[in-house]
Amino acid sequence: MRKGLLFSVAVLSILCVAGAVFASDVLVGACIYKFDDTFMTGVRNNMKAEMEKLGGELEIVDSQNKQPVQNDQVDTYVTKGVTALVVNPVDRTAAGPLMEKARAEGLPIVFINREPDAEVMKAYDKIWYVGARAEESGTQSGELIVDYFKKNPDADKNKDGKIQYIMLRGEQGHQDATLRTEYSIKAMKDGGFDVEELGSDTANWDKVQGTDKMKGFIAAVGLDKIEAVLGNNDDMALGAIEALKAEGYNMGDPKKYIPVVGVDATAPALEAMSKGTMLGTVLNDAKNQGWAAVRIAFAAAQGKAIDKEAIGYEVTDGKYVWIPYVKVTAENYKEFM
Ligand code: BGC
Ligand code: CA
Repeated sequence: MRKGLLFSVAVLSILCVAGAVFASDVLVGACIYKFDDTFMTGVRNNMKAEMEKLGGELEIVDSQNKQPVQNDQVDTYVTKGVTALVVNPVDRTAAGPLMEKARAEGLPIVFINREPDAEVMKAYDKIWYVGARAEESGTQSGELIVDYFKKNPDADKNKDGKIQYIMLRGEQGHQDATLRTEYSIKAMKDGGFDVEELGSDTANWDKVQGTDKMKGFIAAVGLDKIEAVLGNNDDMALGAIEALKAEGYNMGDPKKYIPVVGVDATAPALEAMSKGTMLGTVLNDAKNQGWAAVRIAFAAAQGKAIDKEAIGYEVTDGKYVWIPYVKVTAENYKEFM
């Protein structure tokens, strides 16, 4: 008995000396660029759920879309003694200084959703990124429009063989905004259509701004000229649909319908698909992005190597976890609800 106890105490002290961190000692500090973002709320909820399963502790704060606020939050986490950080930067070009704060303490840091520059990713051995290949989502959303035009020749209202479209872009500087825009246009061209941009503007991922911008475009070019609307995310696409509905469009009359696509596959977007107001979307997998981020932080906090065995996801170049996008159509949307 006594011998056994002594032995355990000895083993424990050796582990403590080696700086081992147990599951129950893991405290991850996370910052989300702003809580009031539909997609990131999904990621956040999945992060919490996963940490509950793993048995560590997770704190999450709202960076209120302000980079200085986020910088202070990271300092507070460091002072508090967190064992790993998860950061969804407000401004992805600010990832460098945040990485340096982590590096100075030897703290693991996992960036999510807003990809740091390659130089920042290379400058530290305990930095990771979890995200999705924006090009993929751009291509898939463009293909949704192509498929619709191939099945519905009348969608080319003025019969000029071109798709006259409106583009609602995400936040300036966000890799998802730039690449989704570029690759969705490329996909329409690759699908065999000429394209003509009737309007393109940023609506900052936001539904209300999406409605406002769409109303502006409707007033400027006229509803009968617009043949498709592409939103870099679902909230902006849904905002555009509100503007169309206000004109009696996308309410069931096939003559008054403009195909609208988004990205994310949020619950309201899937709902809109079920009602026939939205043509399609692309799954931006909040569940797997949230899970992967927390699993990396949890394992890294315990000093484990980050690989498929430790976290259940393929790790590219030792630092990147890429979660695939999935095209969501009328045929498969129910699987995502
Ligand atoms: C999502 C947007 C979200 C943005 C936040 C994107 O990947 O598609 O819905 O607003 O990330 O950074
Ligand atoms: Ca046309």
